Amino acid sequence: MNKKNVLDIDAIRNDFPVLKRQVHGKQLTYLDSAATTLKPQCVLDAISLHDTIRTANIHRGVHLMAEEATAQYEASREKVRKFIGARLTSEIVFTSGTTHGINIIAQSWGRRFIQSGDEILITHMEHHSNIVPWQMLCNEKGAVLKVAPMNREGELVWEEFEKLLSSKTKLVSVVHTSNALGTVNPIEKIIAAAHERGIPVLIDAAQAMAHTAINVAALDCDFMVFSGHKLFGPTGTGVLYGRHDRLESVPPFFGGGDMIRSVTFEKTTYAPLPMRLEAGTPNITGVVGLGAAIDYITGLGLEKIVQYESELLRYANQALSKVVGLNFVGTAKNKASVISFTMKDIHPHDLGSLLDNEGVAVRTGHHCAQPVMDYYRIPATARASLAIYNTHQDIDALVLALERAKEIFS
Ligand code: ALA
Repeated sequence: MNKKNVLDIDAIRNDFPVLKRQVHGKQLTYLDSAATTLKPQCVLDAISLHDTIRTANIHRGVHLMAEEATAQYEASREKVRKFIGARLTSEIVFTSGTTHGINIIAQSWGRRFIQSGDEILITHMEHHSNIVPWQMLCNEKGAVLKVAPMNREGELVWEEFEKLLSSKTKLVSVVHTSNALGTVNPIEKIIAAAHERGIPVLIDAAQAMAHTAINVAALDCDFMVFSGHKLFGPTGTGVLYGRHDRLESVPPFFGGGDMIRSVTFEKTTYAPLPMRLEAGTPNITGVVGLGAAIDYITGLGLEKIVQYESELLRYANQALSKVVGLNFVGTAKNKASVISFTMKDIHPHDLGSLLDNEGVAVRTGHHCAQPVMDYYRIPATARASLAIYNTHQDIDALVLALERAKEIFS
């Protein structure tokens, strides 16, 4: 392989200072990036620099620091635009995360356009944040939430999904990559099938952004949401992308400062997009940090990241399939970065604690996807999730820790 196409993983690991720490006297093996990714030094520096020399509010002041803060904040918007291939910066709305983005669409766009008897179509593998907001909207409006089934592998059952698209369907809201199973959905096909019938599509890309190249203009999705903290950026940051014509039809979600053109006691007129949907002082420092995270990923090259992680996932699957008693949950052909599993005779929570004692951090639980657990008739799984700083040694450490856990329980 051409050396230029290979990432220097040791150098990347050096970019993440927390990887040097020990837990319970053991070297940290971090396999919980689906819950939140670690932050590279450049993101920590950008956050610290901003708060140290540039603390000011945005879009308001005329003093130098205010202008600098505004410029930095808006520069991050341009970085996001470029990163996801949006046509306009006005299509990028900063949010506090994926959940916030979905709730804007559910509570604002949904309240305007969804009526009694309408249907919203999701899949069985959604995160709670792509279920509950739609249930709340459906309850209020007398609309119906439809759920496209998945199979034992954790893949969308395409024929059933297609059958559920009807003249009643007013929105398809679907996860790109399942946080609980790692399944990568056929997003292009989903969008094409929905658009053929004039149905808009929202993509939950929370689990996809750090692991897959996504171009919203090429995909032609109507809305897309993701979180900064699963993209090496700060918590409390996120993005709602909306194609311009769609976003124009979204009424303001919150009212307040920075989203108005003029206010009298009789009447308020609103600012243009994207400000109209960003009321109040936003997470300025966080957005600057998110911009730095995007610079970091772009610098490495998403294509190289995808290539490296898919090889690592292959290695992990092979290594874990040799662990006697381990049962994979979710074996879709097209998967990314997530391995969910159970261990015979060890409850996932006990397993999580035993792995933690060995320095191995995984998530255990329902992963905010209880319907997925119900489908498999299990209360929880252990989930190892990968990111660009993980290595083959991390997988070996997980396997070793699993064998120790088995010894303790035998
Ligand atoms: N949604 C996050 C996860 O999958 C918190 O762990």
